[in-house]
Amino acid sequence: MYCEIHPFTLGVDPALAALRALRPTGIVLSGGPSSVYDPGAPTISPAVFELGVPILGICYGAQLTAHLLGGDVQPAARREYGRAAVRIKQASGVFRTCQAGEELSVWASHGDRVAALPPGFVHTAESDNCTMSGFAFAERRIHCVQFHPEVVHTPRGAELLGNWLFGICNAAGDWSMAAFVDEAVARIRRQVGSSGRVICGLSGGVDSSVAAALLHRAIGDRLTCIFVDNGLLRRGEREQVAAIFLDHFKVDLRVVDAEQRFLGALADVTDPEAKRKTIGREFIAVFDDQARQIAGAGFLAQGTLYPDVIESVSFKGPSAVIKSHHNVGGLPERMKLALVEPLRELFKDEVRQLGLELGLPRHMVWRQPFPGPGLAVRCLGHLTRQRLDVLRAADAIIEEEIRAAGLYESIWQSFGVLLPVRSVGVMGDARTYEEALALRAVHSRDGMTADWVPLPYELLGRISSRVINEVRGINRVVYDITSKPPGTIEWE
Ligand code: XMP
Repeated sequence: MYCEIHPFTLGVDPALAALRALRPTGIVLSGGPSSVYDPGAPTISPAVFELGVPILGICYGAQLTAHLLGGDVQPAARREYGRAAVRIKQASGVFRTCQAGEELSVWASHGDRVAALPPGFVHTAESDNCTMSGFAFAERRIHCVQFHPEVVHTPRGAELLGNWLFGICNAAGDWSMAAFVDEAVARIRRQVGSSGRVICGLSGGVDSSVAAALLHRAIGDRLTCIFVDNGLLRRGEREQVAAIFLDHFKVDLRVVDAEQRFLGALADVTDPEAKRKTIGREFIAVFDDQARQIAGAGFLAQGTLYPDVIESVSFKGPSAVIKSHHNVGGLPERMKLALVEPLRELFKDEVRQLGLELGLPRHMVWRQPFPGPGLAVRCLGHLTRQRLDVLRAADAIIEEEIRAAGLYESIWQSFGVLLPVRSVGVMGDARTYEEALALRAVHSRDGMTADWVPLPYELLGRISSRVINEVRGINRVVYDITSKPPGTIEWE
């Protein structure tokens, strides 16, 4: 299914007009952290419910539906965050493939609840904590769920969305990655023109690699890739990237050695947001330098994904800035380059599909995501070459062990975080007083939500013992068992 996300900030009437013009197959009213009673809370025109288009209200969207159509929304006595069990009361609509009385494991995240249904609605699902986990007005094709079917932690969520799309919206389901490639290639060619040159910031990660491959497909040798060694990379990364891109793509790849520049700028920076901003600023400067050296370069390509866009560019309030992703914001204004972001509407799983569609090697497409600011956001406190080397050594051991256990591809991300916390230990007969490493491994489908991985105890033990024995500077390893939300995947 092709899907677009539009911000409510368009305004109630323009949004209604835009919806009429779009003639969508279905409308999803999404979740969000507001309460329907908050001043300025996201809202829509009640006329949206009269368009005759199927509507699915999720979490806040369900509460908003209830609120606008005459139901009652109240603060819940007990907030529901994380896993919840929902009992099906009516096995129809989005629950048509379930049995009445059946329990589904779902992911929920809400503080308000629907206390009374609007006229005409029936109650379709409940949980111990929230009676109105599901409600619907089948004849008007309005269906609501209080939980999140769109996250991977609701195991049957895709099935419920399928029930809605194919059973209620009568969607065709004929939008494919191959179609996306053609569309994206055409869009890039339109934007860049027949002679424009594009610079692509390559990190070696999945996103920028796929963006580069897509651009290569669209404009061939009018693409120049720049790889910045900022001193915040994993062990051997620079060499791997150079090998893959020179051999595989045969693109014009320029490797910039900027370690001293970045570490110099970051020397006294410990605040997470300040680190991210400093790195963003330095990237701009490095790219600016490079761009000047490439005759005729008018565009900068980036592998920005949809989650980066959502979390950085706050739609005025709701997803209030959680982290400033260094690859969005600030770049094009400062540089004399227009931005090309061919992956901006995609989630990670879609980017991987796209990579395979473009013929990228599996090991590249299945590389675990690595954040733009690199090890900077995993090396808490002061960033020094020495501490980064300690983290690099530990990280290499973690990757080696996770791969050896055959888990690398099934885990979204597994990595170490160096903590600026020293504790006392004993090695041989000597006292140690060194830093601690947090091991983090999470399952996720798109980086938006995540759950910690119950790694086998033996594997945890092996990683811990190897790190402590082989890496000088770490004498304690702890395991992070926080999901997202309420945590984030990276520690900074
Ligand atoms: P968080 O820590 O926000 O991370 O839960 C979600 C996903 O995004 C990655 N990440 C980044 N990726 N630039 C990126 O390209 C960034 O600044 C950045 N920060 C976090 C993170 O590794 C995880 O996969």
